[in-house]
Amino acid sequence: MRSILRWVIRIVGAGFAIYLVGLMISPDLRESTRFGFAFVRIAAQVKLDEQEVPSYRLPDLLAGADGRPITTAEEWREGRRGEILSLFRDQVYGHAPEPPPEYGHFEERETGTAFSGAAVRRQLSIPLAEDSDAPALELLLYLPAERSGPVPVFLGINFWGNQSTSLDSGVRLSERWLPNDREHGVRDHRATEASRGTSQSRWPIEFIVSRGYGVATFYRGDAEPDHPEGHRTGVRAIRTKDIPTDKTPWGTLGAWAWSLSRALDTLVTTPGVDAERVIVIGHSRLGKAALWAAAQDERFAMAISNDSGCMGAALSRRRFGETIAFVNMLFPHWFPPAFDVYSEDEDALPIDQHMLLALIAPRPLYVASASEDLWADPRGEFLSAHAAGEVYHLLGEEGLPDDEMPAPGEDVMARIGYHLRAGKHDITQYDWERFLKFADQHIR
Ligand code: GCU
Repeated sequence: MRSILRWVIRIVGAGFAIYLVGLMISPDLRESTRFGFAFVRIAAQVKLDEQEVPSYRLPDLLAGADGRPITTAEEWREGRRGEILSLFRDQVYGHAPEPPPEYGHFEERETGTAFSGAAVRRQLSIPLAEDSDAPALELLLYLPAERSGPVPVFLGINFWGNQSTSLDSGVRLSERWLPNDREHGVRDHRATEASRGTSQSRWPIEFIVSRGYGVATFYRGDAEPDHPEGHRTGVRAIRTKDIPTDKTPWGTLGAWAWSLSRALDTLVTTPGVDAERVIVIGHSRLGKAALWAAAQDERFAMAISNDSGCMGAALSRRRFGETIAFVNMLFPHWFPPAFDVYSEDEDALPIDQHMLLALIAPRPLYVASASEDLWADPRGEFLSAHAAGEVYHLLGEEGLPDDEMPAPGEDVMARIGYHLRAGKHDITQYDWERFLKFADQHIR
């Protein structure tokens, strides 16, 4: 009796706490109560135990919409690939506008050297529309100072502004809105000097440059601030009008992915950068964006997803860790509202995330997970990468060489690579060492 009572008190207490959280998010009493209840209900469904994964059947990569089997590389390239891409655009991430006419245009803000002369630094401002007050990507680019020709470059979005990626004092402080965060030196939504280098463990730039690669990055909020009202001031505010009205328009993830392509437009014209060897990379939500960018833009030579989880590399149908209902509830701006119909209804989705990965075939693809990052479903990421191998195989490449998920500390690499780092949700030097090993195999 007493234990029942204890549970009742816990549940009511949790509900009340959630209600208070809801109240902070929305001052509207009805709305916050609704949010609070939905949160408790959806949180109660979260599965973090492999035994609880329901049985599921993945949609078939190699059967066309009309059911006909896809048996040749040509049938994939000419038919099935486009069908799957359209499903992702219509049902998941939305459609983006055509590239702006000023394709590749940028303004040079600064050039210098960094890391005791080991790297050349350039800071380029890439306007996302013609009007002078339109958002611009502030691209920070490092190239090895000593190079015998154009080099391959890793391009990825950063969470906290370019200045957070290293202690290089020549980097301009982001002038955009940032989420307040003391650890990252953000006060009143602005980056302060204290924010320099606060993400440097995620961006071992000097090490990457010493291996003969360039690094290019811009802040997520350059394209669009990461909150539900971000669409009012980000690139969607000025570009959504360019999307045909009968198409599902993009969410924030679509805007970030599109911006990666705009950064690529500039990189392919930049001396010292090998246009044929730009690798798109992203951690977590920015890994979701990196995968979506690589799926759509075949100019990216290789793609790396680090801990991208739900609606990144992980299979949705496993409903392990973060679910579609959860991601839609906590980050409603990431997807078009139409995607909400799949909250708690994963089996109705005409795609699953192995199909997103397959859109990257036959280009090299690397998926990395972390053993304690259950929220991102490491096994679901591995199984998805494994399933995508079917298309690599059809295109004459080997996908993942192993059927078994590797133990923490081991990696497996063919045309698809995978590792499980021991530890929590993060991107570390350990991960980068494996990405460089994989890139050395495929890109150098
Ligand atoms: C949250 C979110 C994830 C996301 C992660 C991140 O945990 O639920 O979907 O990947 O934030 O971006 O760090």
